Amino acid sequence: MINERVQAALAAAGAPEAPAVIQPASKPEFGDYQANGVMGAAKVLKTNPRELAQKVVAALDLQGIADKVEIAGPGFINIHLAPEYLARRSEAALKDDKLGISPVAAQRVMVEYSSPNLAKEMHVGHLRSSIIGDALARVMEFLGHDVVRANHVGDWGTQFGMLTAYLVEIRQAGDNALELSDLETFYRNAKERFDESEEFADRARDYVVRLQGGDEEVLKLWAQFVDISLKHCEAVYQKLNVGLKREHVRGESAYNDDLPVIVEELRAAGLLSESEGAEVVFLEEFRTQDDEPMGVIIRKKDGGFLYTTTDLGAVRYRHKVLNLDRVIYVVDARQSQHFAQMFSICRKAGFAPESMKLEHIGFGVMMGDDGKPFKTRSGGTVKLIELLDEAEERAYALVSEKNPELSEAEKREIAAAVGIGAVKYADLSKNRMSDYIFNWDTMLAFEGNTAPYLQYAYTRVQSVFRKAENVDANAPIVITEPAEKHLAAALAQFEDTLLSVAEGCYPHYLSNYLYQIATLFSRFYEACPILKSEGEVRASRLQLAALTAKTLRTGLDLLGIKVLEAM
Ligand code: ARG
Repeated sequence: MINERVQAALAAAGAPEAPAVIQPASKPEFGDYQANGVMGAAKVLKTNPRELAQKVVAALDLQGIADKVEIAGPGFINIHLAPEYLARRSEAALKDDKLGISPVAAQRVMVEYSSPNLAKEMHVGHLRSSIIGDALARVMEFLGHDVVRANHVGDWGTQFGMLTAYLVEIRQAGDNALELSDLETFYRNAKERFDESEEFADRARDYVVRLQGGDEEVLKLWAQFVDISLKHCEAVYQKLNVGLKREHVRGESAYNDDLPVIVEELRAAGLLSESEGAEVVFLEEFRTQDDEPMGVIIRKKDGGFLYTTTDLGAVRYRHKVLNLDRVIYVVDARQSQHFAQMFSICRKAGFAPESMKLEHIGFGVMMGDDGKPFKTRSGGTVKLIELLDEAEERAYALVSEKNPELSEAEKREIAAAVGIGAVKYADLSKNRMSDYIFNWDTMLAFEGNTAPYLQYAYTRVQSVFRKAENVDANAPIVITEPAEKHLAAALAQFEDTLLSVAEGCYPHYLSNYLYQIATLFSRFYEACPILKSEGEVRASRLQLAALTAKTLRTGLDLLGIKVLEAM
């Protein structure tokens, strides 16, 4: 709304192309919003920015929205929202399931995330993709986009020959390994057999050939293995409160039949060259150390396909069959070159039209206290499920200490919400591109920018309602005190926050926003008595508290974090 009005004023002042660049004000004395686009516009028009700012302000119609607009510094425009406007907006947000956000131009967006390799159990390396992707999917869905979740699991390749061969072997030995309760051990044992026995290794290789040739019997075993492995993943998703289900799985195997087609289409497009027996696409824009065009192998000398080939098949499918507008790949930043090259080939070969946006949403490494990638004490990979169990145990200990009188069931429920919430929030509150240190004590602290702090802030607001006897859910909001205004102005920024999360795919914008709301609420709570005030003032403050609770609950839910009524 404000953006559109400033945009119109810029046009009237002779800068129709310039972006308004509306941002929440950096300090309360700068008002609530700042329009920072004038300087850029003045540069383009080669005119004095202060003068341009004056023209923009003269043309700016914020009747009923702002009660003061001023020019600061070289040409910033500071906008002070009118209390009346904030009051009406807050009332509307309270009445609406979507907190008053306006409908977006809906896009069909795929969020591809988690995507573990099924040969092994999920480990901590899968945490970031799973929770960042899930938060992005939730936010986009809430904004009104048509979201397609995708779990591009690694369920194909030579390892699966070895694993199915081993499955047969231990079943024959009468071992009921169907449960495969420990995939890690299963993999290790299979690998050991493979390395020690020539005969077993030959059988494993034979299984690969049969698997790829579509042999029914081997395919059936493979499907059983995949099913068991997916059940392990689902247990993790369930515990993590991540919304990935079986129907979102479309693994690498699904593109197997498309791979020869990809090769033919690349050939027809004139993109394929032969290099040492392999079929390769050379990309001019990527250079090797010797400044030669870089080659991306599409089919190996032995006829095998690669990770990239499968990804090309997936893009082609996502365009042709799913007709997506935007595809987001939430994958470790270390794969950035892979994605850049793969996207480039897609454009050249026409697998994806320019109108379908392809974005690699990378993220940094989760590290241990020693500043090295997170490992067990002995240097092994940490199973994700074990990490999550530990989070719950630690939260359980904290809760039991804080509130020994709670029942066992209550403690368990709180421990799950707090423990898992803490792990997720510690991740989602940081810029995804940075590496971060995983530290139990910091993430489980009840002070600071943590999940327990926000969850606790929510229960504090809810406790106001448990004490208040009569609450009028339709009471008008009246804003007079500065603390009320600051809180209401921040609450009005929920929509803008979600829009920027969706645009840049940065969940930490939402985390930081919620932390700000919790902080502003406690200032409001201190400065403006709620239950001790009377009449319209009391009713209005209860409404602001209700909108705060609703914003915290909705926002945390969009991050995939549970709230509790009491803790
Ligand atoms: N399975 C891969 C891995 O564990 C990640 C897949 C990412 N997605 C993709 N479309 N390449 O590294």
